[in-house]
This record gives sequence, C-alpha cells and structure tokens, in this order.
Amino acid sequence: MKDKLEINLGLEGTYFSKSEICKIDGIKGKLYYFGYSIEDLTDKSNFEEVSYLLMNGYLPNRKKLSDFSHQMAEQRDIDNNVINFIKRMVGKSHPMHILSTAMDMVGSYDKKAESDNELNKTKAINIISKISSITAAIGSLSTNGKYTNPDASISHIENFLYMFNGIKPNMEATKLMDTMFILHAEHGSNASTFSSIVTASTLSDINSAIVSGINTLKGPLHGGADERALRMLYGIKEKPVQQYINKILENNGRIMGFGHRIYKTYDPRARIIRTMLKSLLPNANDEVKILADTAFNVEKEMKTRMEDRHIYPNLDFFSGQVYRYLDIPIEMFTPIFAASRSPGWCSHILEYWKNNRLIRPLFYYTGEVDLPYKRIGDR
Ligand code: SDX
Repeated sequence: MKDKLEINLGLEGTYFSKSEICKIDGIKGKLYYFGYSIEDLTDKSNFEEVSYLLMNGYLPNRKKLSDFSHQMAEQRDIDNNVINFIKRMVGKSHPMHILSTAMDMVGSYDKKAESDNELNKTKAINIISKISSITAAIGSLSTNGKYTNPDASISHIENFLYMFNGIKPNMEATKLMDTMFILHAEHGSNASTFSSIVTASTLSDINSAIVSGINTLKGPLHGGADERALRMLYGIKEKPVQQYINKILENNGRIMGFGHRIYKTYDPRARIIRTMLKSLLPNANDEVKILADTAFNVEKEMKTRMEDRHIYPNLDFFSGQVYRYLDIPIEMFTPIFAASRSPGWCSHILEYWKNNRLIRPLFYYTGEVDLPYKRIGDR
C-alpha cells in the first residue's frame, strides 16, 4: 500500500525536535519560558535574569545573577572596525542589513569555530551582550552621528538606552524597554529561531547561526511587521479606518501586526504591551496619542471583521507606539527585536546541539526525468 503523501506547506503543524525552553498555548493565549509565565517575568523579573533563565533553564540566585551580569557587562565593547563600518553604512542601508553584517564581522574575529558546549555558552553570552551594544550604536549613529562608549557599571537595558541616546535613562524608560526586551526574548520555533537552528545543525558556528536569525527576522511576515504596522498607522492618521482596511483586504493584503500561525486568540504579549501603552498615554506627546488612538480604532474594526477567523493583534501591533514614546526611530524597531531575541536564538541553538541532527527536509519532486539532451542548434 503506497505511503500516504503528507506535504505540510511551511512545515505548518510539523514537530522537528523536542524542547523544554518555551511553551506557547495558542488557544488559551499563554506563553511560558522554562515554565515561568510571561506575565510573571515582565512583572517581577528583568531582561538579564530572563537571559540567564533562557541560557540555563532555571532562575539564578543572587550570586549567579551577579556573575552573569558582570560577564555580560564585560562584553559590551565594540571593535573599532565594526564601529567604523557602522559609521560608513548608516543612512545608506537599512539598520537590519547593518546589524547583520556587523554581527558577522564580530563572528569573523572568533577563531574557535568548532568548540565545546561551555565555550559555546560563553560565545552566546558575548552575542547577547554585543548585539545590544551594536544595535544601540546603529541607532545613535543613524540619528545623531554620535557613538557613546558602553558603561559596564549599569544594567544591560540602561546601557542599551545610554548608548542609544547618549544620556542615562530614567526609571520609566528603563522599565518600559526592559519589558519590551523580555516580551521579545523567546518564542519557540518561529521562523528566525528555526533558521538559526538549521544553520547550527550543519555544525556551523553560533555567530553565523545568529546572523541567519537576523536575516530571517527582517521579513514583513515576521519581525519586520513592527515597522510596517506603525507605517500603516501613520498612513491612516485621520482617514476613515474602515476604508483604509477595506482597501488592504480587497487587494488580498495583510493588516500588519495582526494574525499569527500559533495564536488563535489575543497574543498575550500584545495584551501586556497594550496595557503598557494605555498607562503611558497621559504623559505621551500628540504623535503617540494619535498613533494609539488610530491603533485602538483599527483593533475595533478588525475585531468585528476578523474575530470569527481567530485573527487578533500580535506582538508587533502595539510595539511601535511604545518605541515612539521612547523616541526610537521606526527603522530601529526590528533591530531591537533582534537584540531582544538573541537569548532565545542562543538557547535553542545550544539545546539543539545537545542532540544534533542535520536538518534536511524533502521536496516532493513533481518534474520529469531522463529527458533527451538536444544540442542548442536543434532547440
Ligand atoms: C511574529 O512565529 C512566531 O512566533 C513569530 C513571532 C515571534 O515572536 O517570533 O510571534 C513574531 O512574526 C508575529 C507575526 C508578525 N507578522 C505580521 O503581523 C504580518 C501580518 N500577519 C500575517 O501575514 C499572518 O497572520 C502570519 C504570517 C503572521 C501568519 O499567517 P499564517 O499562519 O501563514 O496564516 P495564513 O497566511 O494562512 O492566513 C490564514 C487566513 C488567510 O485568509 P484565507 O487565504 O484563508 O482566506 O487568514 C488571513 C489570510 O489572508 N490572514 C490575514 C492576516 N493574517 C492572516 N488577513 C489579513 N491580515 C492579516 N494580518
């Protein structure tokens, strides 16, 4: 009896490995990192502790966290060649291209490509630290042409904002950005994590696997949606929301920031960001207030049209308004997503390497075979 042919386009619904790192309940709208709910982690933890959790599988005691934070702080410096490269490229290339090449330059200095798990863990911590410094440097050099050296005496997120803006952040900005980093830190076998794992499964090095992740995240169906969702909101401004959405849907377009392959209910991360946005509005400028107002109108319109099809706001729909409140330029949204996701990418790479298997799926061949070769004159 012929085997039943099963082709899952986009590997939809296909398990390719086991993992203990992240549980996504797409029906109940729940998300856990090593069993801890995202609500608890954003409320009680911070990005450095969540990075430790993702790298080790348990929450650290005070000493372990302090050693980890110290190790991260020591890796914030950026090589001059990378800084000079960024200076040459800002304004000419999208920050995601600059980030990808800059991280590949960082990897090119790593002479120990084949290495053991402990060394790979050290490399992972270096990556999580450095990708944030490089992202902040790209943001700063793009907006005011200045580079600010890292400060090893402050937290990861404080240093990120300090390098980005050239001034030490206040507590509100630090808490907002820390929460955004935690919410973007990990999300199971999403496209960019899968892409990192495919690269790692060939036993290429962890830096190269992260560069694969950055380049995959860039796409508008994935991490690139945050920038496009905000551009859509700018485009709507005072226009009637219904007409604007109609036009997109009638042309089979997608409303950026809505829908998800796994969540068939409200994305729990979007719910947290929406609440954060509501709380910061009283202190927001008119730009952010108009963007938020437009977003809530789009949400209401999409609810009537799409709720029966289980299409809800996702992580990317409200992010842009929070970043604009923090005066982050729109082109920097996805690089920040990449910097935030680096612990998730690294965690899955290290976990997959424990039981590595080259990832090599199949095409179902539908072409011909043994065609006669005709010389060009006879064609
Ligand atoms: C992220 O995987 C992850 O975990 C990713 C992520 C992470 O943390 O890593 O959560 C981050 O990438 C969030 C998603 C960001 N992308 C966007 O916001 C882009 C817009 N969203 C869509 O393109 C879409 O919802 C996807 C790509 C996110 C998911 O699409 P699927 O699962 O492939 O669903 P589909 O394209 O098969 O759509 C099913 C139906 C279609 O209608 P029909 O052809 O069946 O009539 O739903 C419709 C789609 O047209 N649909 C939408 C829509 N999303 C789905 N219609 C309008 N607007 C949308 N946003």
